[in-house]
Amino acid sequence: MDDVTSKGFLVTGTDTGVGKTVVTAGLAGVFCRHGLDAVAIKPVQSGARLEDGELVPEDALFYRLATGLTYPLEQLNLYRFAPAVSPHLAAELSGQKVDPRRVVDFCQQALLRHQVTLIEGAGGLCVPLSGPHFTVADLARDLSLPLIVVARIGLGTINHTVLTVAYARNIGLRVAGIIFNSLRPGEAGPVERDNPGVIAEMTGVPVLGILPYLPGVSVEQGTCEGLVEAVEKHVLWGELLTYLKS
Ligand SMILES: Nc1ncnc2c1ncn2[C@@H]1O[C@H](COP(=O)(O)OP(=O)(O)OP(=O)(O)O)[C@@H](O)[C@H]1O
Ligand SMILES: [Mg+2]
Repeated sequence: MDDVTSKGFLVTGTDTGVGKTVVTAGLAGVFCRHGLDAVAIKPVQSGARLEDGELVPEDALFYRLATGLTYPLEQLNLYRFAPAVSPHLAAELSGQKVDPRRVVDFCQQALLRHQVTLIEGAGGLCVPLSGPHFTVADLARDLSLPLIVVARIGLGTINHTVLTVAYARNIGLRVAGIIFNSLRPGEAGPVERDNPGVIAEMTGVPVLGILPYLPGVSVEQGTCEGLVEAVEKHVLWGELLTYLKS
């Protein structure tokens, strides 16, 4: 696998809270476990926690936990804002501005430093990072990175996922795969069983797996019990490495 060089993916979701951080951290953990120099970064974090007077970028902390790597948080996160709203508004409410050039440079540094870089967006693909002219999709385009789309497995996901893929294609982005995530415990019903197949058919994008609900995993509480093993088992992570080489 040592011919994978300085490449990566932008991990987006069909919505906020669908499991981008969990999937990103799990994938980075699996890549590291298989001997790759992989890293996960979150260039712009809103909803950052205030701890001892400092804003804590929660998603980046969770990547460190899942990978066991201790890169300085400054290498994993560039902007962090307390309001739990879209980054453009979170910045405004904090009296700041997100500079698109700095975000792109920050991501490029990581892409240059590591074999595989996973970049988590914020919310979904159309979310403005800085304003209407610099969205998560624009970041992926500026970096020429393919997308990984994280989608919830239950009711409502057909529309959200197909629209996300259609928007991505419309502006020339490639979609490497869709990963479904189970946000709640319980058996799969007819909806959960049907969704992956129909979405694969409607989009032509490979479904890379369905991550089950993991009771020992919580981004907020900083627990990732069984996450890397579950991603290793339920997600076709090797397909992503093959995609990078293609
Ligand atoms: N497979 C899972 N099993 C158990 N809990 C999960 C799973 N996936 C996600 N969660 C929980 O669901 C919540 C949302 O997940 P996560 O933070 O990964 O979403 P996100 O898409 O990154 O959100 P944001 O848009 O805020 O970055 C978190 O509390 C997380 O711990
Ligand atoms: Mg997140």
